Amino acid sequence: SFLPVLAALAAYLLGSLSFAVIVSRTVGLSDPRSYGSGNPGATNVLRSGHKGAAIATLLLDALKGALPVLLVEHFGAPYGLEEGTAALVGLAAFVGHLWPVFFDFKGGKGVATAAGALLALNPWLGLATLLTFVIIVAFFRYVSLASIVAAAFAPFYQLLIWGAGPAALAIAVMSLLLVWRHGANIRKLLAGTESRLGQKTSPSK
Ligand code: G3P
Repeated sequence: SFLPVLAALAAYLLGSLSFAVIVSRTVGLSDPRSYGSGNPGATNVLRSGHKGAAIATLLLDALKGALPVLLVEHFGAPYGLEEGTAALVGLAAFVGHLWPVFFDFKGGKGVATAAGALLALNPWLGLATLLTFVIIVAFFRYVSLASIVAAAFAPFYQLLIWGAGPAALAIAVMSLLLVWRHGANIRKLLAGTESRLGQKTSPSK
């Protein structure tokens, strides 16, 4: 049926709301694509020094990953929408974040949105992945490194504990795209020029 496609399209549009840009505009900060890493994400908004804007960006970007999944999980069954569609809409919201139709397709790296989708798809997997992220951030203070490591572990947690299925496939695709979007971060980490969490200035793109 066309319903999963329609649901994915709606999730893509929701994912296309780049909250780093929207929140920054709302509180009068400059566009996060113009400073720091140039990334429209919570980590870069934090480099402006505005913690509230960074937290709002994090929560809203995570919510747009979780909401479509939760809607399908709770209201999809009577329409024949099941686990496959839940995984698909999470992936679609993530893709919207990376390539937002409303923002010239110049989106972010998908960390918060993937976290939201993961928590909704499988709360224990979401928590295990978040814990991985928190441990790496606590030790190294690099959000990018923690994001890459957590993303690398997530598909394996899902596969090992819950087995193969649509969720594992969607998570693997999100992880690959997420790590690929961190190319500039990987180069900076290797060069020792990556900025640490909360550091206000950062090397330019
Ligand atoms: O929020 C994405 C994070 O992993 C890296 O962001 O701005 O340091 O490239 P940024």
